[in-house]
Amino acid sequence: MKKDTDFAGMKKKMIIAVDGYSSCGKSTFAKMIAREMNCIFIDSGAMYRAVTLWCIRKKFVSGSYIDMQSIVEGLESINVDFVMNPETNMYEILLDSENIETQIRSLDVAKYVSEISQIPEVRNRMVEIQRKTGAGRSIVMDGRDIGTVVFPDADIKIFMTASVDIRAQRRYDEFKARGIDIDLDEVRNSIVARDIADENRDISPLRRAGDAIVLDNSRMTLDAQMSWIREIIQKKFDEGRG
Ligand code: DC
Repeated sequence: MKKDTDFAGMKKKMIIAVDGYSSCGKSTFAKMIAREMNCIFIDSGAMYRAVTLWCIRKKFVSGSYIDMQSIVEGLESINVDFVMNPETNMYEILLDSENIETQIRSLDVAKYVSEISQIPEVRNRMVEIQRKTGAGRSIVMDGRDIGTVVFPDADIKIFMTASVDIRAQRRYDEFKARGIDIDLDEVRNSIVARDIADENRDISPLRRAGDAIVLDNSRMTLDAQMSWIREIIQKKFDEGRG
């Protein structure tokens, strides 16, 4: 990227929305963009996972049981925040000041998160926090509804996809790297179930925004994805400088 491509040089803040299917590498990609552009990154999926972990801990969900009333009543008291980890230079999620970055990646959380993220009151509260976080500054945010609902006027909208098998293999490799013994089919089934739930829910379903650019990274390295986005950002930057 050219040295002068910096949000500081732009007349207005820039919002980059990265939406798409689960386990496409949205967060890794969005994090890299934010680091390179020197702006904040928010993983909105982590916020829904945090609420889900909170529900599990409070025993508001278990098996097929969901205590909707307690979840809705307790929502206002949930404190979800992000903190920079100076060692990794990455933002990590806090639930009531506790760092839960690792705990939210469990299969147990993955099992319930689609259900919890369908609750309208949960979505309203998360969208409110997301908009507040992005107000008045440049930001890269990844999720399912960032370009369609949270920031419909985002400057750049990316819609990511990759084949189910490749996504399952990547997630499986991540679990293995963390020393978690898991079955590839179980990971694949969890991804397929979440795709179906994300696309078919009534509220804010996963959809490509009309003005989003599709990125199928099935056969792309992260470097190739970064080269691709650099050109898009450079073009936007050039347009915005006039
Ligand atoms: O990106 P992820 O897999 O960590 O997201 C976890 C879940 O949260 C996913 O199944 C759908 C939900 N989600 C959502 O409904 N809206 C978002 N903006 C982000 C995630």
